[in-house]
Amino acid sequence: MLKLTYLSHSSFILDDGNEQVVIDPFISGNPNSPVKTGDIKSKYIVLTHAHSDHLGDGIAIAKANKGLIIAVNELANYVSGQGVNAHNMHIGGGYNFPFGRLKFTIAHHGSSTNDGLCMGQPAGVVITMGGKKVYHTGDTGLFLDMKLIGELDKIDAMLLPIGDNFTMGIDDAVKAVEFVNPALAIPMHYNTFPVIKADPEEFKTKVTQIGKNCRVMSFGETITL
Ligand code: NI
Ligand code: MN
Repeated sequence: MLKLTYLSHSSFILDDGNEQVVIDPFISGNPNSPVKTGDIKSKYIVLTHAHSDHLGDGIAIAKANKGLIIAVNELANYVSGQGVNAHNMHIGGGYNFPFGRLKFTIAHHGSSTNDGLCMGQPAGVVITMGGKKVYHTGDTGLFLDMKLIGELDKIDAMLLPIGDNFTMGIDDAVKAVEFVNPALAIPMHYNTFPVIKADPEEFKTKVTQIGKNCRVMSFGETITL
């Protein structure tokens, strides 16, 4: 059993009843966030990249919860320097954590902090937890190797951006769903800012047209996978 909560933008909480993982906790400064930073009790904080709408409140949450940030090496070193515990990983590598297995995948994007420091490669993650596999693509354009990700792991839920401009737009995201073939596709990274305005119902219609399942989650909604 795995509970998945959508906090808006690219931020999700995974909870198997024992452990809780938050991905890309962009809370303060996020007009759509249904929660406050202090509401997040997750001990594990997964960061796909360093952009402020993904690193977000990760350091504050890790400090408040005496938690662990999981990120690629360069970003993990950066957050360690800010005084939090980090687990350094890199793309293609997996590790068995108390909550389950986490593997970093490629993503085509950037990864700099607000002050312009480059934080290595951006990433996606495949997390195996509560008997389910969740693929959070991070911010990325469409890439053919998504087929390989879907071949190596049977994905129960794929969380992918549809907002265009910085990432895949709707039509490329539909192609990504076709490549990965998840049991369920969930759109993210849209409508937080005017430049990433997109209609998730259009995405859902197009995913349904290729014979796949899509769920548009509202902000703060929890589903059980
Ligand atoms: Ni980004
Ligand atoms: Mn982003």
